[in-house]
Amino acid sequence: MITAKRNLVMKRIIPLLIATMVSAPIAMAADTMIFPSINGNVTFNHKGHTDFLKDCKNCHDKTPGKIANFGKDYAHKTCKGCHEVRGRGPTRCGLCHRK
Ligand code: HEC
Ligand code: HEC
Ligand code: HEC
Repeated sequence: MITAKRNLVMKRIIPLLIATMVSAPIAMAADTMIFPSINGNVTFNHKGHTDFLKDCKNCHDKTPGKIANFGKDYAHKTCKGCHEVRGRGPTRCGLCHRK
């Protein structure tokens, strides 16, 4: 029994795992991103935001990936803007920019 089970693992599950890893989606984002800033680095929980916001379009255009115009203006408009509108998430400088 045990041998049979192990065989199943070796023959089916492991190759499946390898196949999954090899063909991993091209577009992958780190769970947490750190944006360096002279004003104090900003730690952004990409996974957390993706989980509770669901829709990538809250921050991305059609194709999620690097944001071409990412920087101060984008961040203060899109990031801070949403926090203000929803009354949730940091809106004070020091709560995003940590020294
Ligand atoms: C919701 C989070 C958030 C809040 C609140 C916020 N910022 Fe930022 N800020 C960012 C992000 C993200 C960037 C982009 C950093 C980057 O491009 O690497 C940024 C960029 C900047 C930059 C450009 C820094 C650099 O090194 O290029 C300055 C200056 C700045 N913020 C000042 C402020 C000040 C002052 C306040 C308060 C009035 C503030 N920020 C509030 C998230 C925030
Ligand atoms: C709350 C805002 C927000 C949401 C929602 C969001 N993202 Fe992002 N995402 C970002 C930011 C900010 C970056 C960094 C942009 C940059 O560095 O140019 C990023 C970067 C990425 C990258 C590029 C990572 C890299 O290192 O090249 C991918 C891929 C990505 N996101 C996919 C997604 C997908 C898929 C979804 C929806 C399931 C999603 N994102 C939802 C804000 C968001
Ligand atoms: C469309 C809305 C929306 C956008 C866009 C958005 N956020 Fe948020 N963010 C939220 C909400 C809602 C919370 C509060 C989550 C909670 O209380 O569980 C939050 C929480 C946070 C927090 C504190 C909790 C944590 O995850 O560490 C930080 C820091 C933060 N956001 C940074 C950012 C940055 C930086 C960006 C832009 C790159 C961004 N957010 C874009 C809605 C948004």
